[in-house]
Amino acid sequence: MFVSAAVVFLVVYQDTGAQLESEIDRDISGDTGQLLQSLQALKGETPTQIRAAATRYVLAQPYHAASTLLFVLMPGVGTASNHPDVFGSGRPQAGESEAEQTLENAEGRTLQVPRLGYSTARVPDVGRMRIFQQRADIGAVPVVAGAGEPLSLVERAQNGVARAFVLAGIVVLGLALIASYLAGARVSAPLRRMAQVATRVDAGELGPRMETSNGRVDEVRVLAEAFNRMLDRLSEAFASQRAFVADASHELRTPLTVISGQIEVLAAQENPSSAEVTRVEQLVRAEITRISRLVDDLLVLAQAERTDFLRIEAIDLRPFVTDLWDGLTLTAERRFELGTVVDGTLHADPDRLAQALRNLARNAIEHTTDGPGLVRLDVRPLAPDRISFVVTDDGPGIPDHERERVFERFHRTDSARTRAGGGAGLGLAIVRAIAEAHRGSVRVRDPQGARGAAIELVLPGFAAS
Ligand SMILES: Nc1ncnc2c1ncn2[C@@H]1O[C@H](COP(=O)(O)OP(=O)(O)OP(=O)(O)O)[C@@H](O)[C@H]1O
Ligand SMILES: [Mg+2]
Repeated sequence: MFVSAAVVFLVVYQDTGAQLESEIDRDISGDTGQLLQSLQALKGETPTQIRAAATRYVLAQPYHAASTLLFVLMPGVGTASNHPDVFGSGRPQAGESEAEQTLENAEGRTLQVPRLGYSTARVPDVGRMRIFQQRADIGAVPVVAGAGEPLSLVERAQNGVARAFVLAGIVVLGLALIASYLAGARVSAPLRRMAQVATRVDAGELGPRMETSNGRVDEVRVLAEAFNRMLDRLSEAFASQRAFVADASHELRTPLTVISGQIEVLAAQENPSSAEVTRVEQLVRAEITRISRLVDDLLVLAQAERTDFLRIEAIDLRPFVTDLWDGLTLTAERRFELGTVVDGTLHADPDRLAQALRNLARNAIEHTTDGPGLVRLDVRPLAPDRISFVVTDDGPGIPDHERERVFERFHRTDSARTRAGGGAGLGLAIVRAIAEAHRGSVRVRDPQGARGAAIELVLPGFAAS
């Protein structure tokens, strides 16, 4: 504001001066014209007569402050003027020193030298003056007529402009300062409150939220809402992280308790039989296997969030699936069925895909009866480039209300919880993590028959051949 006010001031200041000066220029050239016109009537008179007539003419318009100076210069004859003092003929006035008068006389003498056209000169006792001079011949006598007006008028007008600007400027700048302070305070008050909330969050509290109501500046409200949403998500993430760690510790503690209990039993006996040692050894081994599996599963889940989780390769689908299935059929006594497998290439991580399919098949094996229990895999292409793996069994199936929850970490259905030797509940969470890392999906489907479970894993990146 200060800079623009200064620019406006300079423009107005200059313009006022220029306008007044051009008015003065018009006035003095008009006055000079009239003066010359009246002298033209004296054609044929002698220079002295002309000078006398000129003196009469100029004295008829006496000079006083802020009026027009009129003069006629006649080289070799003399000067006629309505203010002769300015031409250096004057004596010291009251209160003027000799030196000042000498200076004035010198200035007056320079005025006597004709300078045709417009000029600005210092004039004794008057100050700066705008002067116009024009040459003419009255008969055979050359004369220079001129008129001048003091520039003090312009200076006064410009000073007036400057005063008005300084006054108005102080008032406007003051008001602008107050207004911008108020506007700034209005914007910064909510920001300060937000900063306080952010500081508390930074210090570890996740509870506080920013106010988003009462007619705030829009941007600030949007920011506060986004911040609150972020805090909600952070709280949820922390809560689920805590639950995950608690579940994991709990799952690890169970086998560790069994191991330490068995070792205590063994230590309490002075001479344990070799059969007893073997029994404890087998138990401890089984629990260690359980711990290792759990730790492996936890590691997979932790890695699934990393970008280098997958090592994608082109998989020749039919041999991949048949090899995997042949391996699985050796692990249990079930009625294993492999539906038609399409020929083609799938771009996926073979190890992770095998792990996901094994988890699905292992669940099916666990929930079906020894011998006649059915475990089936179907591999079908889906448009445009997707492939679907469906693992079906004829076990008790998954209740409708559990269809989403079975994919949560450590989640087991009630029947599984009561079953002895059940897993930790990570198998399907791992399948989902692997599916999502491949940008695919996994879901529980409606069973084909009256009972049983069907879980479908869909992956992209398939090209039939
Ligand atoms: N084929 C199935 N039939 C019936 N219920 C199933 C089937 N597959 C999974 N479930 C239910 O879903 C739950 C979660 O399965 P998930 O594979 O994640 O865990 P888990 O098998 O109990 O343990 P883990 O796989 O870690 O050894 C199981 O506890 C079980 O109750
Ligand atoms: Mg499982």
